[in-house]
Amino acid sequence: MTLSVSGLGAVRSGRTILHPTSLEIASGDRIGLVGASGSGKSTLGHALIDDLRAQGRGVAHVPQSPDEALDPLRSLEFHWNEAELALKAPPDADRRKRLLSALKIAGGDLGKRPWGWSRGMQQRFVIAMALIGSPELIVLDEPTSALDPVIAADTMDLLESHLNGTGTATLLITHDLGLAARRVSRLMVMDEGRVVEAASTQDLLECPRTGAAKSLCAHRSWLAVPC
Ligand SMILES: Nc1ncnc2c1ncn2[C@@H]1O[C@H](COP(=O)(O)OP(=O)(O)OP(=O)(O)O)[C@@H](O)[C@H]1O
Ligand SMILES: [Mg+2]
Repeated sequence: MTLSVSGLGAVRSGRTILHPTSLEIASGDRIGLVGASGSGKSTLGHALIDDLRAQGRGVAHVPQSPDEALDPLRSLEFHWNEAELALKAPPDADRRKRLLSALKIAGGDLGKRPWGWSRGMQQRFVIAMALIGSPELIVLDEPTSALDPVIAADTMDLLESHLNGTGTATLLITHDLGLAARRVSRLMVMDEGRVVEAASTQDLLECPRTGAAKSLCAHRSWLAVPC
């Protein structure tokens, strides 16, 4: 079923940082939200999550860094149990094993605190937690920017193969056009708090229309990045 929001906006300290924005996301969509730093991508991501949750829709969020999602004083097992509780998902050891295996971290010791795992493993753990409730949409805000390019590519591959055929849509927020170009079928470009351009990935890369899209596309070195 299509997810639909209209009139999203945000004002901070008297400044409009997100102008009225409406979006439709279909089941299984792979959308990229790109734009320069400070263009309002995370603000739109948060507004989207809040609005959809208020509608009762299942939306998960993967932040840029595992530090934002994991408490350094709590074990990974504690985090998993809390996530199940928050999602009202009855504890299910098989589901946990399946999701951790899907992200190739089933061998990790859940009794450890986050810093007992590498950052790559921590971020995969956060992504696995996001999958517990089989959400309709996962908003991934720079999910791999703290990882090396090979681990980043692996992590995105694992997530994609797990989501294949599930109907879960993804919104990938990034200023890395190289990452987005390889992962999504549709791109939205933000500039100064507005979505200024939206097109299929191929059309946007071949024929960017706005200054913001042109300047992102101008950095052709992104073709060399493996993720
Ligand atoms: N709480 C706040 N108070 C004042 N200004 C804010 C606040 N949160 C965000 N902003 C401003 O709003 C603008 C958009 O911020 P946002 O974090 O959404 O950008 P972004 O595109 O996600 O950037 P990045 O790529 O660096 O993560 C920025 O200019 C930022 O400084
Ligand atoms: Mg951001």
